[in-house]
Amino acid sequence: MIENFRGRSFVSLLDYSTEEIRYILDLAIRMKNDYKAGKRETPLAGKTLAMIFQKPSLRTMVSFQTGMHQLGGHAIYLGPDQIGIGKRETTEDIAIVLSSMVDGIMARTFDHAIVEDLAKYSSKPVINGLTDFNHPCQIMADFQTVLERRGRLEGLKLVYIGDGNNVATSLMFGAARMGMEMVMATPEGYSANPKALEILKEKVPGFEVKHYIDPMEAAVGADILCTDAWFSMGQEKEAEARRKIFGKYKIDVPMIDIADPECVVLHCLPAHYGEEITHEAVRHPRSAVYQEAENRLHAQKAIMALLMG
Ligand code: CP
Ligand code: NVA
Repeated sequence: MIENFRGRSFVSLLDYSTEEIRYILDLAIRMKNDYKAGKRETPLAGKTLAMIFQKPSLRTMVSFQTGMHQLGGHAIYLGPDQIGIGKRETTEDIAIVLSSMVDGIMARTFDHAIVEDLAKYSSKPVINGLTDFNHPCQIMADFQTVLERRGRLEGLKLVYIGDGNNVATSLMFGAARMGMEMVMATPEGYSANPKALEILKEKVPGFEVKHYIDPMEAAVGADILCTDAWFSMGQEKEAEARRKIFGKYKIDVPMIDIADPECVVLHCLPAHYGEEITHEAVRHPRSAVYQEAENRLHAQKAIMALLMG
């Protein structure tokens, strides 16, 4: 199985099979436990990851940089002022030049096409650290967390409340691959990305995403309750309008009370308390929000070790 991964990019969960995703998740859990038990492995000794950021980040930046350090390598931060993708030079030239010097590229961009182009022209693996279309590394950490809490993914009812954004797209792709039930409650006009549904139809025929308008109706018996910001990075101008539209699309304690008694509450963070989630919900015993954030480190260490090792 390990030979399946070397040299590949990680741009969408649908580029990977059910077995491959499960392999990465199991490795992430093993590497986390080993690291916490004091075992040190350095499969990326002497290797370098270039990290391209067009947007701000706490978790993604720190987890990739720390992950590279723990694996024996190191990471270089390239912010918006440094490389100016498409302004100072083309994505194609950036990919060719960077990949001639480093062993992997992580990129967080506005336009998804930039990450796709980086992967196309880079001779080394490109890892998607969030685009306007998806956020696959986040969902690997989410699923690692659910496995740790519930012991399985297959058959679980995953309920996503809020905006049909990049996180929602990767949740749909992940749920489709891992045999989960995918339910979304969104305001009209903000449901699943039609382009994502098209891709799903082609790559996982027969997989259905159930749509609700009423969030409480969707949440009944949920094994996983997940939400994300009502407006994403780059949509700040829509904030006020969206606050009016999304008012009831939030995870709170009454919602957790109607979910499965073993429900796992997830939020990728940063949270906007009182908007898509309440402080009480994040601090609820059913919440795995901080474990989920920590697992960004472990899930991405497994991805990097496999792709770049
Ligand atoms: N969840 C997540 O991607 O967090 P950052 O934006 O802080 O990286
Ligand atoms: N949907 C959010 C996720 C942040 C981690 C955004 O794109 O801003």
